[in-house]
Amino acid sequence: MQNSISEKKTLNTKTIVLIGLMGSGKSSIGSRLAKKLSLPFKDADDEISASAKLSVAEIFKVYGEYEFRKLEERVIKRLLMGSKHVLATGGGAYMNEKTRNLIKQKGISVWLRADIETLLERTSRREGRPLLDNGNPKKVLKSLISKRHPIYSNADIIVDTGVQPHGEMVKKIVTAYDAIKG
Ligand code: S3P
Repeated sequence: MQNSISEKKTLNTKTIVLIGLMGSGKSSIGSRLAKKLSLPFKDADDEISASAKLSVAEIFKVYGEYEFRKLEERVIKRLLMGSKHVLATGGGAYMNEKTRNLIKQKGISVWLRADIETLLERTSRREGRPLLDNGNPKKVLKSLISKRHPIYSNADIIVDTGVQPHGEMVKKIVTAYDAIKG
């Protein structure tokens, strides 16, 4: 369906918001996507760390997950109220209803959908993810998949990520984004 001129104008000003589980590639694909579209790139977790002057793992350790989520909501709100950019969010951000509604209003959401093997392999490469530090990462990720995938499926754009190079992913997203913009 064709978008009207005013809808196109609105879509053109919206931030592109990457969502998906830990290890789905939001930050690395997001920064490449931003370069491709000549837009600034922001990583919500980095912005949260900067505002708290602590790493994400330290925030969880010192203040707990509840406080992290409150800060995450505030920081993402500030970013979404700013000018258009590409925003990589942490895996839990889209589970917050207020954040989800604001993303709907101010952004175009892109879910990087990945299977358990991809997520396990990618998350094993980097430390500092508190939710995976306790317990068996495969079990934790499986449980997050069953809770979060049904919610992530509300995204405006869904792309499958796996073994393809990031450049391929960027192309897929740009194609879907151009189609939405009409
Ligand atoms: C989280 C994902 C992390 C980070 C925090 C919580 C989650 O971000 O925000 O550890 O709840 O899935 P990444 O998805 O970038 O790893």
